[in-house]
Amino acid sequence: MTTKYGFYYKEGYDDPLCIDQTSVKQFIERLSSPPTPFLLYSFEQFRHNIDTYQQELKNLAPIRSRLSYSMKANYNPHLLPILKSAKVMLTTVSGGEMQLALSNGFEPSSIIYNGNGKTDESIEMAIDAGVLLNVDSLFDLEIILEYARQLNKIANVLIRVNPNLSDTNVHAYNITASKTSKFGTNIDELEPIYNLIEENHDKWIRLYGFHCHLGSTISNTQIITECVQKLIPLFDIKRFPHLRLLNIGGGLNIDYKRYAQRTKNDKNDDIKIPTIEDYIQSIKEPLQLLPNTIELIVEPGRSLIANSCILITRVLGQKSTGSIQQLVVDASMTECIRPALYQAYHHIDTINSLSTDERIPFDVVGPVCESGDFLGKQRCLPNTLKRGDFLAIFDVGAYCSSMSSNYNMRPRPAEYTLDEHEHIKVLKKRETNEDLLRSFYVE
Ligand code: LLP
Repeated sequence: MTTKYGFYYKEGYDDPLCIDQTSVKQFIERLSSPPTPFLLYSFEQFRHNIDTYQQELKNLAPIRSRLSYSMKANYNPHLLPILKSAKVMLTTVSGGEMQLALSNGFEPSSIIYNGNGKTDESIEMAIDAGVLLNVDSLFDLEIILEYARQLNKIANVLIRVNPNLSDTNVHAYNITASKTSKFGTNIDELEPIYNLIEENHDKWIRLYGFHCHLGSTISNTQIITECVQKLIPLFDIKRFPHLRLLNIGGGLNIDYKRYAQRTKNDKNDDIKIPTIEDYIQSIKEPLQLLPNTIELIVEPGRSLIANSCILITRVLGQKSTGSIQQLVVDASMTECIRPALYQAYHHIDTINSLSTDERIPFDVVGPVCESGDFLGKQRCLPNTLKRGDFLAIFDVGAYCSSMSSNYNMRPRPAEYTLDEHEHIKVLKKRETNEDLLRSFYVE
């Protein structure tokens, strides 16, 4: 059956890469002088991902559960109305994200503010508005209490717990719950936090739950199962009667290599990537021990948005350096830093015909003046690629736009989607050189 949403290859047609019902090539032709590189979103795919999570969470009944979108993955404000209408919560990690959530009308009680180092202003904003705060450490709790007293308000908190579990297959930078991680408080060292909360309970603070996040690009659901098993015993409702939330964070990987069979030499890994269904099923059994007054929260970022967006780039040229054939394109680490930073794989392919031209391995590199600026190594692409040809870099919806930079004085790219009438909608204007310079000149 042909997929009718998201990005897919319509085998047999001349214009095979499609976004929803439209060919990507036709989309590009409709833009006047396409400003490559640019991002193209399928909101249909995003809605589908939200729906999949919500349907799977329903299967956990009678356990009540909620989905929270981890906004750091992509804070494009045009995503927020979709999340709001689907009653998705938001997990924010800065005052800026929290303010964006509040100004878009999200209920404060459906916003979580997480962070190992929170500014005074952001703590004040969270307590004043009634946002749920994660207590990361004893010092974090002390400052939260100070502001609650000053504002004469009660801070509603979860404790960010580090259960000391990690997936050995994820990049070191994506591990957040190893013994020495900078996030949260070790599960065996919570007593000082409990005591301080108890001293101030119902006066300045209410403990609503526990939060943890094991890391990102997790493919081993076993550690998520173990995490739930480790967190449930923390729910001492006699000691903390307001306890009602268990937030197990996000972290589920996506299958970044699912298109790789097309380019035969880009091998699939042996690691099986769990689906959203596998992930939710993996916590079903341990959740049976959760008191029925407690609600589960899962807060994915990547698995909600990553596959809803591609980066369109133009080939600038080919050259050989020693034994390597380099394909130089106009996208770079400034739009997609994940390959450079984590050696992450993003599939790269042509957008036009399923070319029968011979494919040869290329290093796909950007124009940024930095040897680490590559988008893919040894990718099999048609040997006929020439200046002006378009390529798509897949699965860039998460941690690409939100981690983009102006390095080399490169303007950040435009972002587009197609609305329900298949009209082009600009989700973000491409920056100009003037935009980049504006904040340097102070009146
Ligand atoms: N909750 C918390 C507290 C988090 O720190 C994160 C991500 C998430 C939820 C969502 O995790 P996800 O479902 O997206 O894996 N820049 C890296 C990813 C860093 C993620 C950090 N925390 C990358 O591009 O791979």
